[in-house]
Amino acid sequence: GFAEHLKDLKKRGVEHRYLAGKNIALLFEKTSTRTRAAFTTACIDLGAHPEYLGKNDIQLGKKETGRDTALGLGSMFDGIEFRGFKQEHVEDLAKYSGVPVWNGLTDKEHPTQMLADFMTMKENFGTLEGLTLAYCGQGRNNVQNSLMITSAILGVNYVNATPAELEPDPAIVEVARAFAAITVTNDPVEAVANADAIYTNVWAAMGEESQFAERVKLMSPYQVNAELLSHVKNPDYIFLHCLPAFHNAETEYAADMAERFGVKEMEVTDEVFYSDHGRQFQQAENRMHTIKAIMAATLGDLYIPCV
Ligand code: CP
Repeated sequence: GFAEHLKDLKKRGVEHRYLAGKNIALLFEKTSTRTRAAFTTACIDLGAHPEYLGKNDIQLGKKETGRDTALGLGSMFDGIEFRGFKQEHVEDLAKYSGVPVWNGLTDKEHPTQMLADFMTMKENFGTLEGLTLAYCGQGRNNVQNSLMITSAILGVNYVNATPAELEPDPAIVEVARAFAAITVTNDPVEAVANADAIYTNVWAAMGEESQFAERVKLMSPYQVNAELLSHVKNPDYIFLHCLPAFHNAETEYAADMAERFGVKEMEVTDEVFYSDHGRQFQQAENRMHTIKAIMAATLGDLYIPCV
């Protein structure tokens, strides 16, 4: 609700400087388009100053521990965003910095992505109640973990279609199953048949590129293509992707993969990606509105209106 309110203010050009005068550190060990852009523009719209600290700019992990980095940055900044490999680094920052810390992605979780994903579902269907989300993708990555847990928190039915070799961590499934209907299947048709939203993600995450040959073999049956989507019963289904997506071979990376493994389209076909069902760029825009909401709610001096 608060993110929707901030989106409305932004569209109408109404200022919302809930973080005026604050300094925000943006730590990025991994590359990013959307998360970096969303945090940067969110900071500026909220009246805060964003300071980007890239992998080669700071000592974290190389010459300095997470705890020491947290103690230093927490004394100068009012809030810290962290994107990196290790979950323990974001947890150390949260434990020792004394300021709000926002997880911009680790190998284990991608929580700010979730806010945009479920906001996009709500915008498209009017409610989250009764919806089914099908994730056709490998079961052990950060996006899958966070989708499963967030579906459980919000009461959305969730199905992960993934090969037996890549099924999710049973501990995460157990936690999620305590709150909502969670299914793990090896059959992508079964997964999408009753879905309202079909989500996919890259077959190899950042840092897993060496496993690409194996992933192509395992994940090809789970590609989101027109044939798979012909089994979806809801004619108004939406397609979601956190991006970037390998839907053609037009990027340097995808062209290299195409040459080495003979696949020009990977987790989603070009046809599906640019179809009328695609909502991935709405998701991308919503990264900014939702990140703004979480920053303002956790750091701003604000009155949150009932919207
Ligand atoms: N979805 C997402 O996290 O995008 P970026 O990697 O571009 O930040």
